[in-house]
This record gives sequence, C-alpha cells and structure tokens, in this order.
Amino acid sequence: MAASSCSSILGCVIVAHCVVLLALAGAAHGHPPIAGSALSSTFYDASCPNTHNIVRRVIQNARVTDPRLPASLIRLHFHDCFVNGCDGSLLLDDDLPAIQSEKNVPANDNSARGFPVVDDIKSALEYACPGIVSCADILALAAEISVELAGGPRWRVLLGRRDGTTTNIESANNLPSFFDPLNILQEKFRKVDLDNTDLVALQGAHTFGKVHCQFTRQNCTAGQPEGALENLDQATPKIFDNEYYGNILQGRAQLDSDQVMLSDPAAAATTAPIVHRFASNQTDFFSNFEVSMIKMGNISPLTGKNGEIRKNCRRVNNKGY
Ligand code: HEM
Ligand SMILES: *[C@@H]1O[C@H](CO)[C@@H](O)[C@H](O)[C@H]1NC(C)=O
Ligand SMILES: *[C@@H]1O[C@H](CO)[C@@H](O)[C@H](O)[C@H]1NC(C)=O
Repeated sequence: MAASSCSSILGCVIVAHCVVLLALAGAAHGHPPIAGSALSSTFYDASCPNTHNIVRRVIQNARVTDPRLPASLIRLHFHDCFVNGCDGSLLLDDDLPAIQSEKNVPANDNSARGFPVVDDIKSALEYACPGIVSCADILALAAEISVELAGGPRWRVLLGRRDGTTTNIESANNLPSFFDPLNILQEKFRKVDLDNTDLVALQGAHTFGKVHCQFTRQNCTAGQPEGALENLDQATPKIFDNEYYGNILQGRAQLDSDQVMLSDPAAAATTAPIVHRFASNQTDFFSNFEVSMIKMGNISPLTGKNGEIRKNCRRVNNKGY
C-alpha cells in the first residue's frame, strides 16, 4: 500500500514515516495501525513551508480579542471529523438546494464558533500559497496550535487531507450529545474507530472553553438567564491541563456526558479507571490526548485526487449543479 502510493522518492519517505507514526499511535492503544492512511506531517514542507507559522500567527492575533477562540477551534475539528470524516464539511455555508449547512444542526447552532477566524487563516494561506492548503487541514492544525497555546501538549499534525464537496445533515444531527448516556457515547465513538481511552482523553478538551448554562447539570438554577456562558472547567478555565478529570472525581463536571464517564453503572468496567488515571497523572493524559487527536484526525480523510482544495472554506469551488 505504502509502496504503491509513491510517486517519487520523497513521496516514499513521507508515506513510510507516516506509517511508522501511526503504528506507534495504534500500539499505544493496543490497536493495529490505521491501514493505508496517506497523511503526513511533512505534507506542505515543499509546497507551503510556512503553513504552521501562518496558522499560528492568525490564531495568536485573534485570541487577543477573543480568548475563548482556541477552545472554539478545537471543537470545530471534532465536529468536522465526526461528520463525513475530516473533510471540512462543517465549514460549508448554506447554498440550497445543493448544500445544506451543518452549522444549523442542534450541536452547532448558536454554539460552534470561530468561523471568521478560519476564513482569515484561509485568506492568509491563499495569499502565501494559492490553492495548496485544505480547509480540513486548517482545522487539524488550528486544533493542535490551540492546545499548545493554552499550555497543553504539542504534537506533529498529520496533513494532506482534501476538502469534501458535500455536507451530511443526518450525520451532523447524530453528533455526540450531552443528553447521550455512556453506552451511546461509546457507540458513537466506536463507529469512527475511537475506543474508551479515546473517549475519555478527547473529552479532556473540556478543560477549556465555555458552555451555555441550559446545557449544564445545574441547568441555570443559580439564576442565570438562559444563554449565559459558564466555564467548562471551573477549576482552571483557560489552561489546558488535567483538572477536568479532578472535577469529575469531585462530581463537578458541567455536562452529564462528562460525569457519566465516572457515574454510569457501566463506567466502572470501562471509562472510570481511565478518568482516575488521567486525574492523577497529567503526563499520561497528555500523551494519550495526542494519540487520540491523531486518531480522530484520521477519520476517513479525502486524499490523493479525491475532493478538492477549496479556495473559500465556505463554498465548494465549482458548482456542478
Ligand atoms: C463526548 C462527546 C462530547 C459531547 C457530548 C460534547 C458536548 C459539548 C457541549 C454541549 C459543549 C457546550 C456547547 C455550548 O454550550 O455552546 C461543548 C463545548 C466544547 N467542546 Fe465538547 N463534547 C464532546 C466531545 C468533545 C471533544 C472530542 C472535543 C475536542 C477534542 C470537545 C471540545 C469542546 C470544547 C473545547 C468546547 C468549548 C468550545 C467553546 O468555548 O467555544 N468536545 N461540548
Ligand atoms: C433544563 O431545563 C429545561 C426546562 O425544564 C429542560 O427542557 C432541559 O432539558 C433542561 N436541561 C438539562 C441539561 O437538563
Ligand atoms: C505518568 O504517566 C507517564 C506516561 O504514561 C508514565 O511514564 C509515568 O511513570 C507516570 N507517573 C506516575 C507517577 O505514575
């Protein structure tokens, strides 16, 4: 598989490197490596060498006036990858009847945010290297940079995804919900090859960012108006650390879907031991978080000649309709 996708010696090296990295990622979870993935951390090294710096600079500038932005950006990558794979489908605006935007489903409506900053990143990249960097890869890079800027781990983001030309409303309506019991959350993650360790590690992203009070377990009972925003991590709201798991152990998680990883009857044999582990060892959390982010970023990417590199993340390039 690796050999057949080599178009040059450089290509061979890139693909081989990527397979090794994924083999390690898989091994840490006791899984076989993800077969046939063509993503690579060096994908833009020749075609757009400043990609990482450009994305980072735009995020740095934007977060001066919007400190919540890093949290918002990593959530976009999650909501993109769980629907049609990591293909930038979430970024498409309504263009009816062909394109019905995923931005209006309950999990995203009045909730998913950061889209204008994604536009700014795209503009900066189009200026530096037109037609090269996909919107799906922008989300993957923005997710890593956001974690790093908030004090979390760094990792080498795998790149080379291309952008899709469709949305999937049915799947977007089925995104994991804070109303889902543990077994449904586990099923929704298993469907995209993410296991219990991935579920616990990835929900650790609730270490920063905000939640509307009507979604929380307290349900605005402290007298806030509906729509009031609260911190997801009430201990260290802006820092990417393992306090989120400490909150769960104290029964202070904001969402039911956080707390069930400890409190559900099925948790003891599945997620609860992992919550305890991550609460007591931040290094353990960080290294698992990196592996799980790489796995999530590998959900059904479009590569090679599939899809396109969108010029504008909100629209497909050539409407064939
Ligand atoms: C297990 C399934 C998950 C559920 C049910 C869930 C649910 C939610 C909900 C209800 C909110 C608050 C939205 C609002 O009030 O507008 C939220 C925010 C957030 N979620 Fe999740 N989430 C899940 C997994 C994840 C994952 C896998 C990540 C990233 C790896 C993530 C990252 C975030 C972040 C950073 C925020 C704050 C966003 C902001 O401040 O703009 N979540 N999530
Ligand atoms: C909060 O209360 C409202 C009104 O009673 C209810 O519809 C909603 O489901 C509750 N939210 C949660 C998260 O329990
Ligand atoms: C914490 O986790 C790391 C990484 O898994 C491990 O190497 C280390 O031994 C653990 N530390 C403790 C005190 O258990």
